[in-house]
Amino acid sequence: MDKIVDHIPVLLEEIVDNLKNLKIKNGIIIDATFGLGSYSNAILENTNCKVYGFDRDPEVMKYASKLKEKYKNRFKFFQKKFSEIEHTIFTEIECKNNIKGIIFDLGVSNLQLKKNKRGFSFKHDGPLDMRMSKEGLKAFDVINNFSEENLSNIFYTLGDEVYSRKIAKNIVKFRQNRSINTTIELADIIRKTVPGRPKKIDKATKTFQAIRMLVNDELNELKKGLVTSENILARGGTLCVVSFHSKEDKLVKNFLNICQGKTKTFISKFLPPEPNIKNSFEIITKKPITPSIREIKINPKSRSAKLRIAKRTKFCPIYNREIAA
Ligand SMILES: C[S@@+](CC[C@H](N)C(=O)[O-])C[C@H]1O[C@@H](n2cnc3c(N)ncnc32)[C@H](O)[C@@H]1O
Repeated sequence: MDKIVDHIPVLLEEIVDNLKNLKIKNGIIIDATFGLGSYSNAILENTNCKVYGFDRDPEVMKYASKLKEKYKNRFKFFQKKFSEIEHTIFTEIECKNNIKGIIFDLGVSNLQLKKNKRGFSFKHDGPLDMRMSKEGLKAFDVINNFSEENLSNIFYTLGDEVYSRKIAKNIVKFRQNRSINTTIELADIIRKTVPGRPKKIDKATKTFQAIRMLVNDELNELKKGLVTSENILARGGTLCVVSFHSKEDKLVKNFLNICQGKTKTFISKFLPPEPNIKNSFEIITKKPITPSIREIKINPKSRSAKLRIAKRTKFCPIYNREIAA
């Protein structure tokens, strides 16, 4: 049987405090990244609302079952992606105008990182997989089939890896003899390519992150999740997003700026600005909340976390029409 993995949730106190302050009665909070369920559990313990947990990873089911046993009809779980949330809750009658919060805690969970066979970690030997949903394109397919130029672009744009070209070149050179099958094989190629001495942060970190983001289509999924939050949150409902990566945080920041009307709004560049568009979100965190020194000491992995919070106004969604313009 699989052992139960521990997870130290990041910025949990800040999120729960914010939701508690809303004094939500019988509302529904969506935990869009259920993982090992720490956020869901804390919300169920500290508020009197219901929680709908979502996660694309089928392996989180056993954690969801435990919460179901404890909280009965106050908790429901759906094995779905961000892009499927809106459609999923559409059929749930009790959700209509009743979604009081939605939380995204982005990235991978310990459950995924610590299991060698999931292939997320460059520290443990495992197959090149990295699929959160356990379906679709694997890291193996990317590494062994994509062109050198394609690989280089992915490492640069999604991983900010400045040695992207050299790494891509050496991957293609290696695979001329045989395929690259494991995480350690790939990590070794990267470590031998990137110059300099080993540092605190492993040389394979950026490339692995880029491959994971591609395999799971993470930025597009996040965009769809944010648009969903604008469409489904009730008036006064809260959006909380914890991100660990500058690209994700930038996406969230831009999204909120557009929804708050900070970014210039126009339907078409050939028309004058529309005077009647009103902000769909009010930004609560002018600057993102970051973990305290105490939290970073207890959980060093939390150091790059950023939490942005915004409140849904009564006005119509505007993000999609702005992007389409
Ligand atoms: C950092 S973990 C969340 C940990 C969780 N907050 C906890 O307290 O245990 C992120 C989780 O989000 C899930 N996830 C990431 N992207 C997703 C997406 N597009 N749709 C659904 N789940 C996603 C991952 O499978 C992973 O379990």
